[in-house]
Amino acid sequence: MKISGKTAIVTGGASGLGEATAVRLYNAGANVVIVDLQEDLGQALAAKLGDRAIFVKGNITSVDEVQAFIKAAVDKFGAVHILANIAGIAKPGKVLGKEGPLDINTFKIVIDVNLVGTFNVLSQTAAVMAKNEGEDGEKGVIINVSSIAAYDGQVGQASYSASKGGVTAMTLPIAKELARSGIRVNTIVPGIFGTPMMAKMPEKARQALENMVPFPKRLGDPDEFAMVAEQIVVNSYINAENIRVDAGIRMI
Ligand SMILES: NC(=O)c1ccc[n+]([C@@H]2O[C@H](COP(=O)([O-])OP(=O)(O)OC[C@H]3O[C@@H](n4cnc5c(N)ncnc54)[C@H](O)[C@@H]3O)[C@@H](O)[C@H]2O)c1
Repeated sequence: MKISGKTAIVTGGASGLGEATAVRLYNAGANVVIVDLQEDLGQALAAKLGDRAIFVKGNITSVDEVQAFIKAAVDKFGAVHILANIAGIAKPGKVLGKEGPLDINTFKIVIDVNLVGTFNVLSQTAAVMAKNEGEDGEKGVIINVSSIAAYDGQVGQASYSASKGGVTAMTLPIAKELARSGIRVNTIVPGIFGTPMMAKMPEKARQALENMVPFPKRLGDPDEFAMVAEQIVVNSYINAENIRVDAGIRMI
């Protein structure tokens, strides 16, 4: 799909991987709807980008708020062609911590945001994309975000790995189903990227992860993620895939 002139919704667009993707898609000529809970950052980014960008505050776990930001995108730009479904959270915690078993609500909230929220935005946006005219039958492109923790999660990542494993696993059946609507569905599986989410991690833990990366031995730059997102949009033959972008790391 050609990016120029198309409209992209980027959830989690105010920070980290979402921000880099919003910037890259904007610079490639897309209209960009930044969705996030962080209003100040989102508004500032939209203002910095320019006329083809707007910010809409929205929680991906709410059906009403998702419908509202999709409507805002259609009202402003006429349609939605690209969804970068990037918002997510990490709440590490051991199954058996110092205080006893992991609080079940901590487990539930990670599943609710990362898995249910991702599905919520995807299903509501696909309904709108399916109404597009499409070029060569292609009406929409959806990009989800998993994590290498879906494959090689570490101690303390039970909820996060479960949530991202769900995103990875649902990619194929959803891509098969939405094929008949002319919508491609792929998932990027990032390794360790230098974003505000990673900055919350203790320095020692981050250093240990960096040491596990074969080459190049450093955190990923968010734009290296965004480049893959851009390629997924422009390359129509990429479909139903989980794409690791991780410099070869296999976490232990
Ligand atoms: N940074 C990494 O190394 C890494 C690795 C693997 C996967 N990921 C995944 O990439 C995605 C982006 O991570 P990041 O590192 O850029 O994190 P980040 O914290 O910098 O950005 C995530 C954004 O999502 C927003 N968000 C969170 N919950 C939301 C909700 N319910 N509704 C709307 N917005 C919400 C946050 O406000 C934040 O701005 C996440 O899904 C994360 O799990 C990140």
